[in-house]
Amino acid sequence: MKHHSIQLACAAMAATLAALPAFSHAGVRVCTFPGSPSTALDHSVAKAVFKTAGLDVSFVREAIGEGDDDGVSPKELHKVLAKHCDVIAGFPRSSVADGSDSKLRFSASYLRSGYVSVGLRDRRAQSDAPDIVAATYASPAQLIAVQQRDVELDLENTSESTVDAVANGRARRAIVWYPALVAYRGKHPQTRFVTASTRSAYADWSLVFAFAPEAAPLQKRIDRAIATMSADGRLATLTKDWALPADEKTAQTTPAYLDGPSRGAADAHIVRVDASTTADPAFSQAQVAHGKTLYASSCAKCHGPDLQGITAPALRGPSFAPASAKAHPIGAIFQYMASNMPADKPGKMRDQDYADIMAFLLHSNGYGASTAKLTADAARASTTPLAARTAQ
Ligand code: HEC
Repeated sequence: MKHHSIQLACAAMAATLAALPAFSHAGVRVCTFPGSPSTALDHSVAKAVFKTAGLDVSFVREAIGEGDDDGVSPKELHKVLAKHCDVIAGFPRSSVADGSDSKLRFSASYLRSGYVSVGLRDRRAQSDAPDIVAATYASPAQLIAVQQRDVELDLENTSESTVDAVANGRARRAIVWYPALVAYRGKHPQTRFVTASTRSAYADWSLVFAFAPEAAPLQKRIDRAIATMSADGRLATLTKDWALPADEKTAQTTPAYLDGPSRGAADAHIVRVDASTTADPAFSQAQVAHGKTLYASSCAKCHGPDLQGITAPALRGPSFAPASAKAHPIGAIFQYMASNMPADKPGKMRDQDYADIMAFLLHSNGYGASTAKLTADAARASTTPLAARTAQ
């Protein structure tokens, strides 16, 4: 598990970092993630950007370890930035994952890229392959793939073997981060692929430089260099092989969770109601406690132990439950959750368990418990808008 679990780990990171040492004659020390498909790009962009900023760079190898099965831990990155590097190049960020309370500083993005659906150009080879979708284990690709209906999954350990599953006919399609496909093509120029975007909020990632919190002056200088190179076209030239092809068609693979309450066009399906005409649904303290346990075992790994959002959106505070004009009815959120969550086993929990989790979500967003019990039917029928009543 290399690059992709690193993405998950990084997104979750909230590290406190030691002060940056003064730059030595070796210049600014740049680290990249081991095994990342974008390393070649990260190096060439770092060289050019730091040169534009008037700084020398040296690349530090092996500073970031391979990590264990859960990827590189925040603690390890903390150590790396304190000891071995001044900046981490090729740090992946996503709009969904940025809900985490990371204390790192980030530059502007130098590459925006997404997860794509990949097949073989040769149609005959494609139709011979079993109707299986390959994805990299514990990565955003897996989250996107599990939402697709009526497909069998082939979970692979690396992004390279995920592309390979399509190239060698183990799967008909694969969901991969586009730079992984670019890296694969570099090694296997004879294989012809077709790509299509996966329309998921979760598919959209950017590569940035990450700095320790104290490195504000360095980060500003790098941002100016990125802006300069973006204006004069040099950045586009450097990244052109890695950027998503512009003429790409949208795949018919829209994940079910795009129908969720919080994202764009999906909002149109949800009826808004006037807060003044509705009452809070009642729920008990015992349900909150039980819901909390269920949340910890089935939801926290994606939404965060404190509901703060990691690889999935926050489930407390105004980003989840905005003030009433924009709020979604509790019933809509309940129905969405009960049919789409947990994303790795959608709809598989008991109705009453979903109701208990709803009680926990309400309580976490500042609603008070009573002695009455919240049933799944009552939750489903509630037109009360969920609007956070806590500061967080
Ligand atoms: C494997 C990861 C994963 C797990 C586990 C998971 N979720 Fe999610 N959840 C997601 C993702 C990703 C989204 C965002 C979908 C989107 O809007 O694009 C989401 C969205 C949601 C939303 C809608 C939030 C919003 O603002 O759009 C709710 C509510 C939710 N999840 C509740 C839960 C609950 C409750 C559980 C546990 C029973 C759970 N989720 C488990 C990944 C997960």
